[in-house]
Amino acid sequence: MDSFEFNKIAAAVLVTALLFIGIKELGNFIYHVDKPKKSAYKVEGVTENSVGTKKEVKIEEKLASIKPLLASASIDDGAKVFKKCAACHSIDKGGANKIGPALWGVVNRKIGGVQGFKYSTAMANYGKNWSFEELNGFLHKPMKYMKGTKMGFIGLKKDKDRANVIAYMNSKSDAPAPLK
Ligand code: HEC
Repeated sequence: MDSFEFNKIAAAVLVTALLFIGIKELGNFIYHVDKPKKSAYKVEGVTENSVGTKKEVKIEEKLASIKPLLASASIDDGAKVFKKCAACHSIDKGGANKIGPALWGVVNRKIGGVQGFKYSTAMANYGKNWSFEELNGFLHKPMKYMKGTKMGFIGLKKDKDRANVIAYMNSKSDAPAPLK
C-alpha cells in the first residue's frame, strides 16, 4: 500500500468519524430540550423535591374560621341540615342517647361528656370543649378530624351547612352562646 492509498483510507475514516460526530451533535441540537427547574403550573397536593420529580404529600387541610359565617347563619336552615344527624342524635331537652349521645346543650360542653354514653376512647380522652371551631372541624370530616371516633358520618362539606347546623345546635341549650 503506497502512501497515497493510505491517505485515502485515513481520509475516509476521518470523514466517517466526523460525519458520525456531526450527526450526533446535530441530533442533540435538535432534540435536546432543557427541562425547566420548576414547573410552570402548580398542582394542589403535589410538591416537587430538589430533582424536580413529583410526589404526593399529605396536605394539612386548614379550615377557615367558622366565626364570620356563624354571624349570618340561619337556625331554620340548620334544623334542616340536622335531619342528617337525627337518625343518631336527639337534640331536644331531656332527649335520650341514641346511636350517638344526646346533643342538648352540646356547644361548649365537655367533649365526650354525656354520662352513660359509651364513647370511643378517642372522644372520651379528647380533653377539650365543643367550641364553635372544634365543632366546625369535627363536622367537616369527623373521622379525619378525630381519628378513632365511632361517629360513622361522612361530614358536612359545605361551610354554610356547618355554620347553620352549629347555630341550630347552639340554640338548643339553656344558655345559647352569642354567635357574633
Ligand atoms: C350514624 C350515626 C351518626 C350520625 C348520622 C351523626 N352522628 Fe354524631 N355521633 C355519633 C356517635 C356514635 C358519636 C359518638 C362518637 C364517639 O364516641 O367517638 C357522635 C358524636 C357526636 C358529637 C359529640 C358529642 C359529645 O357528647 O361529645 C357531636 C357534636 C355530634 N356527634 C354531632 C353530629 C351532627 C351535627 C351530625 C349531623 C351533621 C351527626 N353528629 C351525625 C353518631 C352519629
